[in-house]
Amino acid sequence: MTNNPTNLEALAEKKVSRRDILKTAGIGGVGVILGASGLGSVLSLKESKASGPESNHEIVPFYGEYQSGITTKPQNHVYFVSLDVTTSKREDLSKLFKDWTKASALMTEGKAVGKLSSNEFLPPDDTGEAAGLSPSNLTITFGVGPSLFVKDNQDRFGLKHKQPKELVDLPAFPLDALEEEWTGGDLCIQACADDLQVAFHAVRNLIRIARGKATLRWAQTGFQRSKEADPKKETPRNLFGFKDGTVNPDVDSEKQVNEHIWVQPGDGPDWLVNGSYLVVRRIQMFIEVWDRTNLREQENTFGRYRDSGAPLGQKNEFDKPDFNQKKETGEEVIPVDSHVRLSHGDGTQQILRRAYSYADGMDLKTGSFDAGLLFLCFQRTPSKQFIPIQNRLAKMDKLNEYTSHRGSAIFACLPGAKQGGFIGETLFN
Ligand code: HEM
Repeated sequence: MTNNPTNLEALAEKKVSRRDILKTAGIGGVGVILGASGLGSVLSLKESKASGPESNHEIVPFYGEYQSGITTKPQNHVYFVSLDVTTSKREDLSKLFKDWTKASALMTEGKAVGKLSSNEFLPPDDTGEAAGLSPSNLTITFGVGPSLFVKDNQDRFGLKHKQPKELVDLPAFPLDALEEEWTGGDLCIQACADDLQVAFHAVRNLIRIARGKATLRWAQTGFQRSKEADPKKETPRNLFGFKDGTVNPDVDSEKQVNEHIWVQPGDGPDWLVNGSYLVVRRIQMFIEVWDRTNLREQENTFGRYRDSGAPLGQKNEFDKPDFNQKKETGEEVIPVDSHVRLSHGDGTQQILRRAYSYADGMDLKTGSFDAGLLFLCFQRTPSKQFIPIQNRLAKMDKLNEYTSHRGSAIFACLPGAKQGGFIGETLFN
């Protein structure tokens, strides 16, 4: 097999493993760096399609038109952090993003940040805990929050004129129970990987690089069932036992991703074109209360059957819900206050949900589990997507009896970087 463009395109269209690359390039040895040949740029161009990691040993390309970790098929774990910027110099910020870009590109290839052991009189460049581990489909996604632009009425970095209208604090929703310790942030990093140690290592090293420029504000880990535990790769279940993630925009459809996920030219400032808005909510789920609720009530709460995941009144998970269907009593089969009816609305507002469960030990205030959903969703226009959906849910979603929104933040996830460039280039330059 030769490295002709057709083969490379075909390779990039598929999931690409390190082994595939070595085979395709006709190289058996180790140490081949993605991007050292023309191959890297082909992969980068196709990043938007980096959708289907199947094994733990694959590399999701870091460079590309879009950041990875958005339309990428969800990995087993997330390590999410929100940061406060402590420097007041804009040059420091662009330097930080340059350093983060280089380090991220290395880590997503399963490599250390700098030398593992070089000078015995200095701390090693890399913290070391991912040595020998596979890339584990690591993706690292960066975002900027509204407070990076203006905080306490201060134009902190001369970026005020670049703040998109959509990048403002979310409105207060009915029933919000937000706590300062889980809310807001100037910057965010979402590290997703099939191995938690790999994800943690990435965040840890990025925070270390940020020393003197930015500090941790809040952090949250999340998990899904692992792919190994679910050979059939069904839709993962949330901590209420229901399949979660059935209805989402099709990330392989260019039309849908451009309509619902990626910021388009003319939407706002040019620097964010090919970026996406991330809304994150830390939602506690009262699992003890849920576990005392009968099955019919549980299914009416979501508007779907627990076992199959099918919409009420239908048979299979991916059947279309029939919101007009009525029982003999005249009541709707999918209740008017059910989660799917309200979140679906008229079907025009769609968000890319990429949520992970979390379990953080005990809620010291109540003695119950502090467990729930780290709800992460991506979209092109929050005012037309997350906000109206959440307004409907907050008013009358039956699920509200069993959940509490304790954390919240919004970020603009930057467009991707080409090799030689850096994440944030369009904003800081
Ligand atoms: C702990 C909180 C939540 C849980 C447990 C939860 C769970 C679910 C489940 C089980 C489904 C049905 C299966 C599926 O399509 O994935 C669903 C659908 C959906 N949820 Fe949630 N959800 C939560 C919060 C939210 C929030 C905060 C939003 C947005 C504001 C949201 C938006 C949606 C949307 C858009 C759908 C698809 C609706 C459709 O069928 O078109 N969810 N959710």
